[in-house]
Amino acid sequence: MISAVFNSSPWISPKPRAMKYIYLTARSEPERALIEAELLSFAGVRPDEKGVGISEVKTDISNAAYVKVGAEILAEAPDLDGLEAEVASKGIEAEGFAIRVERLTENLKLRSTEIAARLADAIRGRPNLSDPKVKLLAVLTDDRAYLGRIFSEYTKGWLRLSKKPYTTSSSLPHRLARLMINLSGVRPPAKLVDPCCGAGTILLEGADMGYEVTGYDINYKMCQASRKNLSYFGLKGEVIQADARFIEGEFDLLVTDLPYGRNMAADERLYDELISNFVNLSPVAVIVTARDISELFIKHGYRSVDVLPSPKSWFTRYIHVARL
Ligand SMILES: C[S@@+](CC[C@H](N)C(=O)[O-])C[C@H]1O[C@@H](n2cnc3c(N)ncnc32)[C@H](O)[C@@H]1O
Repeated sequence: MISAVFNSSPWISPKPRAMKYIYLTARSEPERALIEAELLSFAGVRPDEKGVGISEVKTDISNAAYVKVGAEILAEAPDLDGLEAEVASKGIEAEGFAIRVERLTENLKLRSTEIAARLADAIRGRPNLSDPKVKLLAVLTDDRAYLGRIFSEYTKGWLRLSKKPYTTSSSLPHRLARLMINLSGVRPPAKLVDPCCGAGTILLEGADMGYEVTGYDINYKMCQASRKNLSYFGLKGEVIQADARFIEGEFDLLVTDLPYGRNMAADERLYDELISNFVNLSPVAVIVTARDISELFIKHGYRSVDVLPSPKSWFTRYIHVARL
């Protein structure tokens, strides 16, 4: 089954829970489809246009590329006045707390510090802004106000890793590599392979996120670049020079950025041969290419492929998530 959008989230437990969780994502119109797909993969919901997603799933988002924070909802109301009253009437207690305010509405004229002060007055307990024991999140939208207890925040690991010493003109952006890993739904610890690893962007992100990473590249110089990049950050990973059409192994997750040349017919043949081998390496493959090649995954035995276009200023990348 080929679908052009991410409709499925098979790794999410469907069990309903009483607790509700609020997630906030980064907001960027060109990357909107990517951001939606990432929250869907983590929490089974899409964010609204303000980047707010409400879910019954509590999940660690520290490795996320675009999901910034997750909080357990303690109180909610239609507006700030209502929220203050709700916090007071519920007798919400927190010792040594700090409140981070996300004002996602133009309707509220108060500053964030004033909003935090009003909510702090309604909470039983003392604030501690310099070394908070409890981190709270206040979210104000046009028609809803929430107070939550933060349980997970993204670490933005890609910022550090994108300063790797060796790179190439065809290296992927680090944040995109992190997103691709996350779209798989296969969470660490797990065995990740990049069969065409180049300078190792995906390997670096994967190793930083807690995966056991293995990279292959046909080009010796690229293998050396990946090895040096991993060791520069003190990250572990194995890198082997080999032709990805013939490698063997068992991995939980394959993530790669396929090579592209000037000759479309040659690329076509290479992709066909690569994917016919990838199906033997991993039950889940997340692959980015310069065009939609979803039919190749089905041809070689993957049962479903989601395709997510990622537009850039002068070309579009296609992220494929294929499952056996
Ligand atoms: C688009 S680049 C990967 C870039 C990489 N993601 C990065 O961020 O640096 C594709 C890589 O595939 C490698 N490659 C090409 N044909 C290959 C093959 N048959 N087996 C393994 N690697 C191959 C190339 O040497 C190149 O480094």
